[in-house]
Amino acid sequence: MISCVGSTQSAITEVSSNLNVLFLAEDFVLSNELKAKLNECFEKPEILLNAHKFTGKKGDSVILSTVCGDKPWHVKFVGLGKKNGHGVLDFETFRQALGSSIKSAKRLNVETVSLAMPDAALFGMKSADVAQQATIIAHMATYVFDDFKDIKKPKTPWNAKITLCGVSDAAAITEGEVIAGAVNRIRRYADTPANIATPTYMAEEAKKIADEGGLKYTCFGKDRALELGMGGLLAVGAGSAQPFKFVTLEYTAPKATKTIALVGKGITFDTGGVSLKPANAMTGMKYDKSGASAVLGAMQVIAKLKPNVNVVGLAPFTENMPDGAASRQDDIITHMNGVTSEIENTDAEGRLILADALAYAEQFFKPDIMIDIATLTGACMHALGTFYAGMMTDDDALAEELYEIGKFVGDKVWRLPFDEVYNDGIKSETADINNSGKRNYYAGPMMGGVYLRHFVKSARWAHLDIAGVADGVPGVNYLGNGATGAGVRLFVEFVKRNAA
Ligand code: BES
Ligand code: ZN
Ligand code: ZN
Repeated sequence: MISCVGSTQSAITEVSSNLNVLFLAEDFVLSNELKAKLNECFEKPEILLNAHKFTGKKGDSVILSTVCGDKPWHVKFVGLGKKNGHGVLDFETFRQALGSSIKSAKRLNVETVSLAMPDAALFGMKSADVAQQATIIAHMATYVFDDFKDIKKPKTPWNAKITLCGVSDAAAITEGEVIAGAVNRIRRYADTPANIATPTYMAEEAKKIADEGGLKYTCFGKDRALELGMGGLLAVGAGSAQPFKFVTLEYTAPKATKTIALVGKGITFDTGGVSLKPANAMTGMKYDKSGASAVLGAMQVIAKLKPNVNVVGLAPFTENMPDGAASRQDDIITHMNGVTSEIENTDAEGRLILADALAYAEQFFKPDIMIDIATLTGACMHALGTFYAGMMTDDDALAEELYEIGKFVGDKVWRLPFDEVYNDGIKSETADINNSGKRNYYAGPMMGGVYLRHFVKSARWAHLDIAGVADGVPGVNYLGNGATGAGVRLFVEFVKRNAA
């Protein structure tokens, strides 16, 4: 864990930490102060650096270690690569370099870490933004899901203090800590398995977030869902011994004129229902609540940042299980807005609960903008892989905005085509629409998207399919294994930019 991230305007040479990190691009030159400091502690540091063939390339790193007084003292050199065609360094390379430095700090078990912050202009960014991102990434890099490991052994957790050197962005850093705290909290929700993280458990956690942040919390189950005619949620929840919970968290800004609704898929476990998944495809389906978890995380941050815009988070939580009471293939259900749907595949359950949630959001909150987030289709993961969420929207400006924000905060989205031509893919012989999409239309992510489009009538709206990015992202050292917290950083920045 990192106890805190602080900043100082002093250069790294004036700060005495046990691990000191220097981020260096390919054309780096060491300053005289730095050389002098290195000369104090190492014999012929430049020869050592050369011997390690450190050139500042992306992925390069060397640690030189010595003892100062009676404490180990380490200097880590990490490469930032070279400037791209736009004359700037790649910021994602910095995120990775930072991630690897935090991992080194943990491995070396040091208590204090100084990061020599590179000049923000090198990335074409503002200093405060770089400092905030560094804070978030540092915290994200420390996350591990080990709550259930060695529970009988006393734990001596690693705890370090990080100092960003050469910057003075205290407010941005504090905000970064708030964001990172929520990201890591909801990664834990996503990682917690379904025998523990039941719909009831998730609703209780949402209540805690509401109580901590002064948000309005509501939660209802089967009785109210029956009254409202939420045929989708009722159909998916029918097969589970765990009662489903429909949670809302409301943040109201006193002077706001605009409302944003964030809607997340909260399937605590997806067996597929009677359209049962094969065993290997079912492993990992505890992550099917990642969308709703992201909504809770975003609401936690929004409660603390208090932007001038109303935000409501909607999180339907249910399990998708096969059972005597479960829905069947061919069943016809009626959603809350009167649209009927033929269940062709009980494994396409996410759109069933989201359809009712979107209709509910429109009816009760009249949002100006609505964004839903869901681990909706395996096909999206195959189409885009693990680094970009799929985005579907009819709103070009919203698409552009989300794309830009995604790149900026490192929570990336890529727009998929969404023309009317996909609509017929979910035609049904027996109902208004069918939930799985016709085979010969392929386009799995868009079949989910056009289904949801039936439930949005007046808000500007985007659908995010995070099936590929919510967990198990390879090769990104600050994410590690398990849940990534995808969506929280994107939502927070989106809400901030849409505040008046
Ligand atoms: N939760 C899954 C999607 C998923 C698959 C997420 C793999 C992450 C990894 C979703 O409910 C589902 O099963 N979708 C089906 C839809 C199909 C039946 C139309 C799918 O992707 O196969
Ligand atoms: Zn499913
Ligand atoms: Zn699912």
